[in-house]
Amino acid sequence: MKVLVYGSVNIDRVFSVDHIILPGETLKSTRMSLSAGGKGANQSVALARAGSDVWFAGKTGDDAAWIIKTMEEAGVHTEYLCHTDHPNGQTVIQLDRHKQNSIIVLPGSNGEIEQSEIDAVLPHFEEGDCLVLQNEIPHIGYLIDKASEKNMYIVFNPSPLTDDIPTLPIDKVNLLVVNEIEGASLAGLQPDADFDEILVKLEEKYPSTEIVMTVGSKGAYYRFDKDIVFSSGVKVKAVDTTGAGDTFLGYFLTYKNEGRKIETCLGDACYAAGIAVSRFGAMQSIPLRSEVDG
Ligand code: RIB
Repeated sequence: MKVLVYGSVNIDRVFSVDHIILPGETLKSTRMSLSAGGKGANQSVALARAGSDVWFAGKTGDDAAWIIKTMEEAGVHTEYLCHTDHPNGQTVIQLDRHKQNSIIVLPGSNGEIEQSEIDAVLPHFEEGDCLVLQNEIPHIGYLIDKASEKNMYIVFNPSPLTDDIPTLPIDKVNLLVVNEIEGASLAGLQPDADFDEILVKLEEKYPSTEIVMTVGSKGAYYRFDKDIVFSSGVKVKAVDTTGAGDTFLGYFLTYKNEGRKIETCLGDACYAAGIAVSRFGAMQSIPLRSEVDG
């Protein structure tokens, strides 16, 4: 089975700060690092390091050549990637003393993906192959519709949350991967809603979709049909939480495609995400399979 990730590549500019900046405040940063990121790119690397056969499609600027090299070294196939002369997508990430982050995303090249490019990539994949999507590129609804027509297995991580998410054909998604904030929003509940209530509402809304909800260091839930599975997370000394969700998704999907029990998939994906949290950066923090299984 082939996995296609259609998504974003970002140049992450990570500023270490005491606290997340307040309105009107000027704040001194103690360190700035350039780091490889983008939810799509991170997930493709997590899938590849976990052992999936993965292709990445999207659009990058020349300034992101070093990120593509990192992805290829991880084993990601990049022959369907398009290029533009315009600047690549970028982020400004504040990383505070508690190792929490806040992220500003400038889409750049990611925002220039065209439907005709999607039409040229999808014929390389067939029924039963996976399509993995996040919400950092345009044409998500089109991608879901087209992949659904081909009976691909569609995985959607609706991150970052935007106002148009409820208008997307999520009922055609096979596996929805959310955190508790995204889950509550899609369920039409307050961000501090009870986890069970979120899962029940999501199941009512999307009865044909498998739901995975991560709840930070507390662990992750899976809910579909009669199956309700929970696995607790691992406690680690946090260095940087950026990319932990992407690591979780790549490992969970790879283990699931291998036919492992859902409980094992959740537990081992939480463990992989814990390793990522204990390291700096997004893509560079994603562990190798030998570190997770070992
Ligand atoms: O999920 C983490 C990623 O989100 C970062 O690498 C950043 O690029 C943002 O897209």
